[in-house]
Amino acid sequence: MPDAIQWVKKDPNKEDVFWPTAELKQRTWVSDEAIYDQANADPEAFWAKHAEDLHWFKKWDKTYEFAPQAYKWFIGGKTNLSYNSLDRHIEAGKGDNIALIWEPEPIKEEAVKLTYKQLHERVCKFANALKDLGVKKGDAVGIYLPMIPEAVIAMQACVRIGAPHSVVFSAFSSESLRDRMVDCGAKVIITADGYYRRGKPINLKKSADAGVEDSPVKKVVVVKRTGAEVPMTEGRDVWYQDVVANASSDCPAEQMDSEDLSFLLYTSGTTGKPKGIMHTTGGYAVQAYATAKWNFDMHEGDVFWCTADVGWITGHTYINYGPLMNGATTLVYEGSPDTPDTGRFWAIVEKHKVTQLYTAPTAIRMFIKWGDEWPAKYDLTSLRLLGTVGEPINVDAWMWYFNVVGGGRCPIIDTWWQTETGANMVNNLPGIGPFIPAIAGRPFPGVLGDILDSGGTPLGPNEGGYLAIFSPFPPALTRGIYGDMDRFKAQYFAEYGPERYFTSDGARRDEAGNIRITGRVDDVMNVAGHRLATAEVESALAQNDKVSEVAVVSRPHGLKGEVPVAFVLLRGGIEPSDDIRKELMATVNQVIGPTGRPDQIVFAHDVPKTRSGKIMRRVLKALVRNEPVGDLTTLQNPESVDQLKELVRHQE
Ligand code: PRX
Repeated sequence: MPDAIQWVKKDPNKEDVFWPTAELKQRTWVSDEAIYDQANADPEAFWAKHAEDLHWFKKWDKTYEFAPQAYKWFIGGKTNLSYNSLDRHIEAGKGDNIALIWEPEPIKEEAVKLTYKQLHERVCKFANALKDLGVKKGDAVGIYLPMIPEAVIAMQACVRIGAPHSVVFSAFSSESLRDRMVDCGAKVIITADGYYRRGKPINLKKSADAGVEDSPVKKVVVVKRTGAEVPMTEGRDVWYQDVVANASSDCPAEQMDSEDLSFLLYTSGTTGKPKGIMHTTGGYAVQAYATAKWNFDMHEGDVFWCTADVGWITGHTYINYGPLMNGATTLVYEGSPDTPDTGRFWAIVEKHKVTQLYTAPTAIRMFIKWGDEWPAKYDLTSLRLLGTVGEPINVDAWMWYFNVVGGGRCPIIDTWWQTETGANMVNNLPGIGPFIPAIAGRPFPGVLGDILDSGGTPLGPNEGGYLAIFSPFPPALTRGIYGDMDRFKAQYFAEYGPERYFTSDGARRDEAGNIRITGRVDDVMNVAGHRLATAEVESALAQNDKVSEVAVVSRPHGLKGEVPVAFVLLRGGIEPSDDIRKELMATVNQVIGPTGRPDQIVFAHDVPKTRSGKIMRRVLKALVRNEPVGDLTTLQNPESVDQLKELVRHQE
């Protein structure tokens, strides 16, 4: 074991503020504080400099242009995400470096390693197969795949030919799949027969089949993973292994305009209907590349492990595009962290000599519960840097991650960002620091942002407000909601106008400008790092015909961060029972998937309403959190509140 690094403490009174060591400063890409002033004085020049590292078929004519809800980056430039992820490294003579390591869940199966050349060949073959299936530039393609190499291959193949992908998390229900395919009009989807989860084969094809019914999907490509017997629909379904078998491995990358759509990713807004977040090619590529490089101190030869699923933005940017554009090795793990035992993550770190680990606070809290003995069994000294994402991290989880996983040697990079931002936005840099438990840090250089009050006035240190991002917007920021630009405007630019993006996150900063994210200020929950609207759970429950009215609010949870709590009014004559509770849970499972399952269902006779009949979710939220319910004078039925207090306690 190397000696634990002496962390420099600039201020001896601040024991928990960590600064980079001299060794880290020397090794990493940027360690001079001046970068902030330079980049923020001229964000266009800053991002353009990163853009120059990438390959452009044609260089851009203009760096940035602003118009309300129509800001653009690298205007007139032509590039391709897949070319930058693969061909660029092969041309530089690095084609034999390992691009991807796949660790299957069953331990008896061998890990798969693909070099950049091999990954390139597979991507090209599949891209040609997609063309043979009729996919053209601009056509949306659905991807409903588990954590197997083909997930990365399929995404790369789509962007290679200019067909925007729309990845749907494999644990999402068939209904979620259908809604998304209908919305984006995908005619082709890629799925698998199944995958392994907690030692058991899961049948994914069944959900895919149900999901493509009554959707525009005409062709289903099925990757053979588990070898399970699955029905194949004649004329619609084809095996992935068959279509790539004879496909040519020559597939020049399409020259995409910077502003062309590279992918859509659906995420929860405040309504029941998820929105298709649109990401471009040039701007997205540049920020994905630059943030992966600087935030995670990424170098060739690094084995970078982002434990998110490819179905989330974190998987898009930091499993696939970010590490590959940097020529690093990305690790993809198929299964569960507790199979065959709760040491699996650490076994993987040791086996593949993972250099950077990027995971979520929910996972860290779970590891703490499982006990220090699990990480202690393995050699984790290959780790140089740790990342966290997805939800606010608590101090205890941070310290445990730092000491037990990082051995006190690794900086923790706490990255705040969103599906909409496409790439990291707020976090301190490894060579500059500081690393402070539960504090994300400063906006990335070139990202202009501040904490504002509700009227848009910037707030001083330690004053709670809302985080906003200013124009020139960072290049990866979404360009809109697919098919609903009115919603785009209303959601992000109604608050502070077109030049200030409203994040929906509460935040405050210290005197040095380090930002603490306090969480969503809208009706979006963060359940075990999964983003979910309370309205989605409500509309799922409302599909059960025993339900007459329903309201869902979030409640803090020790392990998962937040969980949904549902207040349900049953139709006349129906008595609450455990069977109905189970049935309602099953309804949520079917409509959303397990992520949406309420932690508690409270059967009520009445819920607090305003005189105009609107459910007062604010009061319900206070009730489940044991907080003061506040002013009830505007309610039509204030007596409902006391009754509910009892019910919440008794129906735990
Ligand atoms: O509330 C913030 C929280 O996750 C939300 C975005 O969720 P999603 O679009 O699913 O993307 C998650 C992965 C980028 C944000 O509005 N969030 C994300 N990262 C952090 C965070 N909250 C606190 N600290 C973070 N590091």
